[in-house]
Amino acid sequence: MPKFIITGGRPLSGKIAVSGAKNSALKIIPAALLSAEVLTIKNLPGIEDVERSFEVLTDLGAKIERNGNEATINTSGLNSTELNAKMANKFRGSIMFVGPMLARFKEVKFPHPGGCVIGAGGRPIDLFLEGYRAFGAEVEEVSGKFYHIKANKLHGADYFFPLVSVTATESMMMTASIIPGTTTLKNCAMEPEITALAEYLNSQGAKISGAGTPTMIIEGQEKISAGTFTVIPDRIETGSFVIMAAAANANIEITHCNPEHIMTLLQTLKKVGVDFSFGTDWIKVNSSKGPLTAQSIKTHEYPGFATDLQSPYVVLMTQVQGTALIHETIYDRRLIWTDMLSQMGANITMCDPHRIVIQGPTKLYGKHLISPDLRAGIALVIAALIAEGQTEIDNIYQIDRGYEKLEERLRGIGADIERVE
Ligand code: EPU
Repeated sequence: MPKFIITGGRPLSGKIAVSGAKNSALKIIPAALLSAEVLTIKNLPGIEDVERSFEVLTDLGAKIERNGNEATINTSGLNSTELNAKMANKFRGSIMFVGPMLARFKEVKFPHPGGCVIGAGGRPIDLFLEGYRAFGAEVEEVSGKFYHIKANKLHGADYFFPLVSVTATESMMMTASIIPGTTTLKNCAMEPEITALAEYLNSQGAKISGAGTPTMIIEGQEKISAGTFTVIPDRIETGSFVIMAAAANANIEITHCNPEHIMTLLQTLKKVGVDFSFGTDWIKVNSSKGPLTAQSIKTHEYPGFATDLQSPYVVLMTQVQGTALIHETIYDRRLIWTDMLSQMGANITMCDPHRIVIQGPTKLYGKHLISPDLRAGIALVIAALIAEGQTEIDNIYQIDRGYEKLEERLRGIGADIERVE
């Protein structure tokens, strides 16, 4: 298993470019199933979760051609309606194939999706199943083995999400695009990745209105075409790099990003005292002149403080003056990793699975760590970059799932980081 060896305390400076968004790429790849035409994807991040998505699609009979950060997908010769269980089990994003498969073939069989262990109960898919039923599908569930969804005829539906879910919103939006009738979705997630997907589908003939708001109306079309989709910049990577620069007290320019997508983080960092400026596609963080001060946060669905940015933000709070309460409202296992940060020297008290209190500032020291999930993984990398001494991070597959060539990009701004196979 590859690992990172990081020697902390090296001065960081320069420019670092943001890749295409994982959580946009993982939706556009399954969207290729909505049409038998060829889809071209640009700015595709070279990450493990994208590889897993391509494996699933290839196994279904799709033809994929790759050229660096571009890919074309041809799903005209699909020969299966069953997602390979071993492949789909490996990542949460595999659930995104289900809605388009159901809409196009009226049948799909799949296992419970895998992914980061950040929520109790294996990250439920009840909302998806409820949604497909509302469209007229029958759901057979063989507990612990697979789900089999079939329909003679699908139709538009009115559905109210009992809780806000990004992937369930995207899944129902995609299904509704090519089934007869009008669908109204209420209490939808509003993430930029959803808006980008809706804009692309509309450019190919879909009729989706309201994406990026809580209510979406989708007039199902007999068919839609496929064209070119450019993956939007990864807002979580953007935010993680901004936080890294602030924690390392460095002058760093983050390029190829969209600051509009991380406004809540930027507002919070302003209160912390971080010195930064930004334009349409860049953010410049300057080393701070005065002391940084603690700010409590509570994670929230977009446009609130992203749960995926909570972990790097925790590292920053160990370096600032004062006490911060971190309230993680989306996932109940997303603070457990902070125990590793305590081992590095942080002063963290866990109040309950959803809340920690951080008392800063504290010096961090290099340790031997294991990356438990993707976002905790990048947080541990940031902690290691500012720690005294050497840190070894095992299980970096979890980091490779969502960050392309991270060590190369970090070396470009002066980090001492090695990948050891
Ligand atoms: N939930 C249910 N039932 C469902 C679906 C979700 O109870 O059927 C619950 C979840 O357990 C969670 C909450 O609803 O407590 C929100 O989950 P959501 O469905 O929004 O999460 P997701 O769609 O599975 C996406 C991102 C996550 C990101 C969340 C929250 C993808 C592939 N994943 O997950 O990204 O944290 O939205 O914004 O888009 C990551 O990139 O590291 C990551 C975990």
